[in-house]
Amino acid sequence: MAATRNSIFDDPFYQPADKFFPANTKIGLTFDDITLATLYSEILPRDTHLETTLADGLHLHIPAISADMDTVTESRMAIAMALNGGLGLIHYNMPERQQLSEVSRVKNHVHGLIQEPIQIAPDQLIGDVLALIEQKKFGFSTFPVVDAKGKLVGLLSGHVVKPRYAAKKVSEALTPRQQVHTITKKELGKDPIARADKFFTEHIGIHKLLVVDDDDHLHGLITMSDVERITQERKAQFKPARDAHHHLICGAAVSATRNAFGELDKKRILEHVGGLVERGVDVVAVSTAHGHTKGVGDMVRVLRDAFPKLPIIAGNVTSAAGVEYLADCGADAIKVGQGPGSICTTRIVAGVGIPQMTALYVCSRAAAKKKVSILADGGITKSGDIVKALTLSQAVICGGIFAGCTEAPGDVVEISGKLYKQYRGMGSLAAMRTGSAARYGHDKNPTQKVAAEGIEALKEACGSVDRVLAQLIGGIQSGMGYLGAKNLEQLREKARYIRVSPAGMREAAPHDVVELKTGN
Ligand code: XMP
Repeated sequence: MAATRNSIFDDPFYQPADKFFPANTKIGLTFDDITLATLYSEILPRDTHLETTLADGLHLHIPAISADMDTVTESRMAIAMALNGGLGLIHYNMPERQQLSEVSRVKNHVHGLIQEPIQIAPDQLIGDVLALIEQKKFGFSTFPVVDAKGKLVGLLSGHVVKPRYAAKKVSEALTPRQQVHTITKKELGKDPIARADKFFTEHIGIHKLLVVDDDDHLHGLITMSDVERITQERKAQFKPARDAHHHLICGAAVSATRNAFGELDKKRILEHVGGLVERGVDVVAVSTAHGHTKGVGDMVRVLRDAFPKLPIIAGNVTSAAGVEYLADCGADAIKVGQGPGSICTTRIVAGVGIPQMTALYVCSRAAAKKKVSILADGGITKSGDIVKALTLSQAVICGGIFAGCTEAPGDVVEISGKLYKQYRGMGSLAAMRTGSAARYGHDKNPTQKVAAEGIEALKEACGSVDRVLAQLIGGIQSGMGYLGAKNLEQLREKARYIRVSPAGMREAAPHDVVELKTGN
């Protein structure tokens, strides 16, 4: 059995966390500064389990969270994350009422039902529809047609949305209401996918089913391709993350709102969080740039007292003292990361922040003592970074990786033939003006004099979250296979680290070749 044991020759080089990090106290290390050593393994990547628990009653099937940023997570992203087994945190750069309805959308999401299909009006021209498709880069061209009151008038089918008909009115080209296949919400029943699947089998050649209410108002659209994809996915390894009532899980960021006297506006905060809880929110995140502060601690205490069972995420911190403080205030999961984010300038502007692996190690030891979990927030650019982060944390929070996805808020823009989406820091001047100034300790209406701690940027459009997560999960499972770790707990126990030289870093990426295709 010698093969399964560690060798004495390895031990001085490849060290477990509690030896490696204390031996590197004089330097802050981040993902690319270290690499993980392989270990004897009987585990195939596909047999690894990625479940993680962030708090009592808050379980994910994959350890991935989309960041509470206004160019990353609204309901569409949160739905996609939960469907893949993860979690989305809805940002707070929007009116409180809007955030409540974003949460409701996730909680009431019926898988396979496009609840707000793009609709067009009968008096529009086919040319207008073509322009809309071009402008929004839609990958489809069939649209329900509704009147001003939202009543279904017909269906504009893709085969008439052609430049030759550009001058014709939609009303002349549509398939009229009587010929459009519809179903009522009630008829969809408890398993809408099974019901729609049956419908498509019974109606040869029909690929779209519209959902209406008793007054013929449009309430959604089900497509055969979605139904087929979902039926396939039901056999998938990673199930959607759902609550006890089978609804998708959803988180929301909340801000430490202050009144005119600069005190925490408890009444308003409790009203807002009460509204979120009523709508079924599974976790709230008190998101600030500096979480080890009286203001954030007070906010967490207020929420913990008022909602004893509500899972609370709080942050951000990079010290053990910060973790201990927030845990004592009542937080269940603590965000670790100050300045590692791809759009962050905190380290440059304020000169503070700790490279992520060192911060995670220090925080993880305090978290274990306090029995809270930690979330590695920011700086992740590849699946290997996630594997490294998960050796010290319960889940990762990513912004940049998801910001180019179709499900992220914002339109696609074309520059020199390439497609991009906007991605901006919540501490950028533009985002702070929209509401996130408090997160960075500034006034509601920041002026140019305020030092922004984030930039505005673009991310290349990268397709669906499903695709991106499939790549990331594949990488995580591969890393676990190399370490012989069946689950994330074993990954944390087994990880052994070594520092990497700059030459070692160069060696790690493709080199000395002409790259024809990137790995992803
Ligand atoms: P990534 O690297 O995934 O980072 O793009 C996302 C995380 O970055 C944090 N964040 C900021 N940090 N200035 C900062 O210093 C900012 O403007 C900013 N906006 C977001 C946040 O923790 C997020 O999850």
